[in-house]
Amino acid sequence: MRKGSAAIGRIEEILHAPLVVEDSPTAVELKGFEHSIEFKNVSFSYGDQPVVKNINLVIPKGKTVALVGSSGAGKSTLADLLPRFHDVTEGEILIDGRNIKEYTLASVRKQMSIVTQEPILFNDTIAGNIAMAAPTTSPEAIEQAARTANAHEFILRKEDGYATNIGDRGSKLSGGERQRLTIARAVLKNPPILILDEATSSLDTESERLVQEAINNMMQQRTSLVIAHRLSTIRHADEIIVLQKGCIVERGRHEELIAQNGFYKKLVELQEVR
Ligand SMILES: Nc1ncnc2c1ncn2[C@@H]1O[C@H](COP(=O)(O)OP(=O)(O)O)[C@@H](O)[C@H]1O
Ligand SMILES: [Mg+2]
Repeated sequence: MRKGSAAIGRIEEILHAPLVVEDSPTAVELKGFEHSIEFKNVSFSYGDQPVVKNINLVIPKGKTVALVGSSGAGKSTLADLLPRFHDVTEGEILIDGRNIKEYTLASVRKQMSIVTQEPILFNDTIAGNIAMAAPTTSPEAIEQAARTANAHEFILRKEDGYATNIGDRGSKLSGGERQRLTIARAVLKNPPILILDEATSSLDTESERLVQEAINNMMQQRTSLVIAHRLSTIRHADEIIVLQKGCIVERGRHEELIAQNGFYKKLVELQEVR
């Protein structure tokens, strides 16, 4: 399994990272996550195209920060800076007070799981796909993770249960099933930090409900950076950050932002009439 976990790290890098991020020769291991994640004056440009502009935000341990804004506002780019799929162009990102560039890349990524709308799955069994990034992989632990992810029931209905091969990139599964497998993988990996990037878009209402429930289970006790296309799913976030063209234009809790009667309120109203 160690081999599988190295492989998935590499594949995530290839899929997400146009830049090669290298460990500094003096990099230290991030051994755990204790206090906070902090973005300090963070900007990022693709070439000379700035897409994230002077962002300041703190996610204290155990809290949830949500990013909202129109398509193209820079939400995914901002979230991708934390696992270093890209490196900041200006400013710094700190974990427990230290710049993430001073830690080894592998040890930073070990502290987080990332669930996006495009699950990364392999032509392997269901159990193999869940166990991929985890340090321990007993059948009991795999089943427990699948239960948390609302996946156990559908897995039992497959011809070979946990031993069922899911096909190339999970082609024998529905979108919601693929999503729940990657959530089970994240649950089994059991990292303190979660990054969820529109994890439930592209799903029908029923599987969205099951996936959202799985995500809520997984978010208990963890520190999360969440991007949700459906604003109802982030109304309980500790802080909601509203991005427009890479800048923070509003921030606060749901009720505060509604009371401000600004861009966030407009986004919420747009969704209600749809
Ligand atoms: N790999 C890339 N290369 C160049 N431009 C990109 C790349 N990814 C995203 N962009 C651009 O950066 C801006 C922000 O994109 P993104 O972070 O995906 O926004 P959001 O997640 O809010 O929809 C958009 O204008 C998008 O076209
Ligand atoms: Mg996005």
